[in-house]
Amino acid sequence: MKTLVIVSHPYPEKSVAISKLSQIAATVPDVTVRHLESLYGNDLSKFDIAAEQSAADEVDRIVFMFPVHWFNLTPMLKAYLNEVWTYGWAFGPEGKALSGKEMLVVTTAGASQFTYSAEGLIESSIDAVLTPMKASALYVGMNYSQPLAFFDAMGASPEKLEEMQSALLARLAA
Ligand SMILES: Cc1cc2nc3c(=O)[nH]c(=O)nc-3n(C[C@H](O)[C@H](O)[C@H](O)COP(=O)(O)O)c2cc1C
Repeated sequence: MKTLVIVSHPYPEKSVAISKLSQIAATVPDVTVRHLESLYGNDLSKFDIAAEQSAADEVDRIVFMFPVHWFNLTPMLKAYLNEVWTYGWAFGPEGKALSGKEMLVVTTAGASQFTYSAEGLIESSIDAVLTPMKASALYVGMNYSQPLAFFDAMGASPEKLEEMQSALLARLAA
C-alpha cells in the first residue's frame, strides 16, 4: 500500500512532536512525506495544485499530520483542502480522484485525554474536534480511519516521543 503523508505545522522550527512523527514516517517504505509549510511557507494561495493532486493520485492512503491549535486544523491544511480538492477532481460528477482511498488523521494535542471527554473542560472528544476532516473524507468518498491522536504532547519526554513514533509505525504498517 502506498501512503502520502501531508504534514502541516505553522511553526515548523518550534515543532517537536509533529517533527518527530514526520521524521519517522519518512523512513517507512512506500511512504512519501510532503511538508506544506516547507513547500509553500504560510502562503495560503501558493499551492502547486497539479503536483499535490498527482502526489495524491499515486497513493492508496493519505495521512494528514498536524497539531491541534485552537481545536482546529492548521491554516495551511485548511488551505490545502480549499486549493487542492477541486471540483471535477475531488468532487462533482467527474470528481472521483480520492474515492476509495483511506484517510488517516494523525494529530497531537497539548491537553489531556480527560480534557477531550464529556466531563472535561471542552466537553468535546477529539473525534468531535476532527469532524471537518471526517466530513471532508466522506464527502469525497474516502474511507475514514480511526484517528491516531496523541494527548499531553506539549513538552513530551524523549520516552513518550519514542512511544508516539512506535504507535505511528504500527498504524502505518497496518
Ligand atoms: C497557537 C497554539 C494553539 C494551541 N491550541 C491547542 C488546542 O486548542 N488544544 C490542545 O490540546 N493543544 C493546543 N496547543 C498545544 C499543541 O497542540 C501542542 O503543543 C502540539 O500538538 C505539540 O506538537 P509540536 O511539538 O509539533 O508543536 C496549542 C499550541 C499553540 C502554539
